[in-house]
Amino acid sequence: MNHQNEQEGFVVWMTGLSGAGKTTIAHVLVDELKARGLKVERLDGDVVRQSLTRDLGFSKEDRDKNIERVTFVAKLLSRNGVACICSFISPYQAVRDQVRAETTNFIEVFVDAPLDVVVQRDVKGMYKKAIAGEIENFTGISDPFEPPVNPDIHVHTDRETVQESADIILKYLEKRGLIPVAAAA
Ligand code: ADX
Repeated sequence: MNHQNEQEGFVVWMTGLSGAGKTTIAHVLVDELKARGLKVERLDGDVVRQSLTRDLGFSKEDRDKNIERVTFVAKLLSRNGVACICSFISPYQAVRDQVRAETTNFIEVFVDAPLDVVVQRDVKGMYKKAIAGEIENFTGISDPFEPPVNPDIHVHTDRETVQESADIILKYLEKRGLIPVAAAA
């Protein structure tokens, strides 16, 4: 909160492999931030790719375009006091750096789970297909993922509960003064 007690916008940018838990954590964050009276929007790869970027695939060029369009939205929202909770694989560091440069209070969160764990989870059944060669350019299998070089926050979903990972992010936002501290239970 700034001195006028108005909400300052920010961007929680969750990057990580498919199945690492980005969307699940995003839902918990959105509920918690709304409960604290904040204006919140969620931007998620699976949702955005059905609307704003439905013309795009998964080549490097298309992934870059996907994030470029999302950045435009996150930029408008974050500069107007909205909390943006973003979950995109966003495998390239240079593009994530670009989001940081263009948005207000950008926070890079590495939602980390080892490849063997997400393959084991295979929530959407896509790793099985990717390993069988039925899906091309699949992140972690046949396409790169560049781990964040210096993330603001690093959560480990193979050894934390969803709530624990979400709490790490919430505590960080509290410390930065971007959200009000939760009322004691
Ligand atoms: S990004 O690389 O451009 O940031 P984004 O987060 O929007 O990706 O979309 C990822 C989602 O698309 C995955 O959760 C998965 O459901 C789906 N998907 C389909 N094909 C691929 C692929 N080749 N690589 C990764 N994800 C894919």
